Amino acid sequence: MPPREASGPRDESTYPGTVTIAAEPETAVAPLRLGSLTVEPAVVLAPMAGITNPAFRTLCREFGAGLYVCEMITTRALVERNEKTLQMVRATPDETDAFSVQLYGVDPATVGRAVQMLVDEGVAGTRPAHVDLNFGCPVPKVTRKGGGSALPWRRVLFRDIVRAAVRAARDVPVTVKTRIGIDADHVTYADAGRIAQDEGAAAITLHGRTADQLYSGVADWAPIARLVETVDIPVLGNGDVWEADDALRMVAETGCAGVVVGRGCLGRPWLFGDLAAAFAGRTQRALPTLREVAAVMHRHATLLAAEQGERHGCTDFRKHVAWYLKGFSVGSDVRRALAVVDSLDELAELLAGIPDQPYPTAVLGGPRGRTSPPRPVALPEGWLADRDDPRPPAGAELLVSGG
Ligand SMILES: Cc1cc2nc3c(=O)[nH]c(=O)nc-3n(C[C@H](O)[C@H](O)[C@H](O)COP(=O)(O)O)c2cc1C
Repeated sequence: MPPREASGPRDESTYPGTVTIAAEPETAVAPLRLGSLTVEPAVVLAPMAGITNPAFRTLCREFGAGLYVCEMITTRALVERNEKTLQMVRATPDETDAFSVQLYGVDPATVGRAVQMLVDEGVAGTRPAHVDLNFGCPVPKVTRKGGGSALPWRRVLFRDIVRAAVRAARDVPVTVKTRIGIDADHVTYADAGRIAQDEGAAAITLHGRTADQLYSGVADWAPIARLVETVDIPVLGNGDVWEADDALRMVAETGCAGVVVGRGCLGRPWLFGDLAAAFAGRTQRALPTLREVAAVMHRHATLLAAEQGERHGCTDFRKHVAWYLKGFSVGSDVRRALAVVDSLDELAELLAGIPDQPYPTAVLGGPRGRTSPPRPVALPEGWLADRDDPRPPAGAELLVSGG
């Protein structure tokens, strides 16, 4: 993927609240190679169900990430041409060179057919440039059926799914996204990395938590470093990158080839500008004022409205409001009104009524978004007994995309 001209507030003259926070120049991080695809900067927007729709991807892209993964798409729903799913597998107009799709599936045949359908036909005229496979989801409705983060435990089935995807994808790079394991006693990442590499995966992303940890505590990056030692394909580090400096630290501490950023960009899409700057060896960081944040909020809602219609788009935008305003001094009546906003004009009016103020630096460094406490992982009966059982779990296919 060639470096793009930023279409949004990327250069310093228009970049929100740009400050230089360090005097010393930093070391640049090399672009990431995924097969024939070059990702520059080596920064990936993590797939997040309900968040990384075309509007959010466009917004993040305007600030500067390298690759932006869409919401999780269920392979069964895709091959059955479920209307809602086909709607979700949509590239934004600016993604013709880098449309990235995450697939979920538990049956190698279905996953293979879904990848083939995407690669051969494209969807809405767009062929993906990258396919990611979800082996990290910890949600009970998924793991209870043996999917997501439960699946790599069944290593033969895992191998068959990756094999089917890579074969069907031909020249399109396929990557694998996973967690450390099911829990501390059932660690899967090293086997998963070796198998993914043997089957031709272009990279593996490792979230430094086990499934039973959900989003609790602090991500453990040590397994990311061990995986870098274990495999020759690029390893992407994931978990608790809240600031650009966390990403630089993750690269330095683990040797990972790139970072995957999820919750850190919720209500802060300009984080990708910071990451792009940091990975290019520059020291600029954004600390937008409330007025500048309000402009980004309005842009986000406008993109959602263009995609879904004004009412639906504004309804979808409501969940982002608290993330954007985290730490700012905003009256509870205005927050309540923003939580039920249903037109762009109303949004603009409410935002205009909030006095401008500097960025609340106390909220830097996270966490933000989900922080769910640990919980034992729901698994199918007998799931742990035979790691080499190749059979897809019965009745495990989900029909709903987007988690
Ligand atoms: C709201 C939400 C939805 C998510 N949906 C997905 C998903 O569909 N597929 C996936 O692989 N991971 C999903 N994740 C996990 C993230 O991609 C990422 O691995 C995780 O949040 C850890 O990274 P972070 O600390 O940067 O947030 C989701 C996370 C959140 C918070």
